[in-house]
Amino acid sequence: MGKPRRVFLRSYGAGIISVVNDIHAHAGEVAGGWHVPRLSVSSLSKQFGGIVALQDVSFDVYEGEILGLIGPNGAGKTTVFNCISRFYDPEGGSIAFDGVDVLRLPAHRVIHAGIARTFQNVLLFKGMTVLENVLTGQHSRARRNPLSWLLPDTQREERELRRSALEILDWLGLAELRDLPAAGLPFGVQKRVEMARALAANPRLILLDEPAGGLSHEELQGLARRIQAIRQDLKVTVLLVEHNMDLVMGISDRVCVLNFGRKIAEGTPEEMRSDPAVIEAYLGESFAEG
Ligand SMILES: Nc1ncnc2c1ncn2[C@@H]1O[C@H](COP(=O)(O)OP(=O)(O)OP(=O)(O)O)[C@@H](O)[C@H]1O
Ligand SMILES: [Mg+2]
Repeated sequence: MGKPRRVFLRSYGAGIISVVNDIHAHAGEVAGGWHVPRLSVSSLSKQFGGIVALQDVSFDVYEGEILGLIGPNGAGKTTVFNCISRFYDPEGGSIAFDGVDVLRLPAHRVIHAGIARTFQNVLLFKGMTVLENVLTGQHSRARRNPLSWLLPDTQREERELRRSALEILDWLGLAELRDLPAAGLPFGVQKRVEMARALAANPRLILLDEPAGGLSHEELQGLARRIQAIRQDLKVTVLLVEHNMDLVMGISDRVCVLNFGRKIAEGTPEEMRSDPAVIEAYLGESFAEG
C-alpha cells in the first residue's frame, strides 16, 4: 500500500486533512490485521561496560499503528530510542525503516529518513523562542546549499516553512507562546514544544519518550487525544515509551514489554494486562486487577 505521506506545507488545512482521512482511514489495517512493518528492530543488543542494556530485542512497528514500549526503570526503552536515532551504536542486530538500513545512517540523516523523536528529559534550545525551536525541526526539509537563500524559490520556501511551523504550533495549542523563550516554560509545555519540533520535520515515524512526564490530569487527557491525532490526522506512526499505564494501555494498538534489556512479552493491551510475566516484572497485581 502506498504510504499516506502528508506534508504540512500543502496539506495541513483541516479540509484536506479530512479528505486524506477518508482515503487513508485505517491505512495500516487490512482485514483486521496490521500488515506493513514500517520499522523492524531485529536482535538488537547494546552493552555499557558490564551492563547489558539490550539483549536480542526484536519487534516491528506497523504502518499507522501506535506501539507502546513499556518496562521498569532501566529496562532499556530509551536505549532502544538511542539506537534507532543513532546516538548509540549497538553491538548487534539490525534496524530497518521503510527498507532503509538505519544502522548505516549517520545520526543527522535519521531525520531525513523520516524518523523524529522527543527526549525523556526534554532537549530544547533554551536560548531560543518556542517558534525558533520548532523551526530547527524543519531543517531536514530546507535546502542545504548556504547560497540558495538568495534564490526567490528558497525565500518562498522559507516563508512556507515558517507558516507551517506556526500551523503546527497552533495545532498543538502553542500558538500564543510562540515568541516566549522555551527555557521559562513549564516542563509539560516544553514537552509539547519538543513534540512540535519533531512533527515539524514531517516524519513518518515519531518516537515519544515519556511524553506524559510532568503533566497534570487534564493535560494527560489532551496528550492522549493529541497522540491519537498524530496517528489519525497526520498519518504518523507512533512508538511510545511511557510509564503512565492508563495512557499507554488506553491508546496503544499493541504493547511490547522490556525487562532487564530483554523483551518479555508483546501483544494487545488486554493481553499484556493479564500476562503473568508482565504483571510480575512491571504492572503488579493491583494494575492487572484494576
Ligand atoms: N550512556 C550510558 N552509559 C552507561 N549506561 C547506560 C547508558 N545509557 C543507558 N545505560 C544503562 O542501560 C540500562 C537501560 O537504560 P535505559 O535508559 O535505556 O532504561 P529505560 O528503560 O529508558 O529506563 P527509564 O524508565 O528509567 O527511563 C540502564 O541500566 C542504564 O543505566
Ligand atoms: Mg528512559
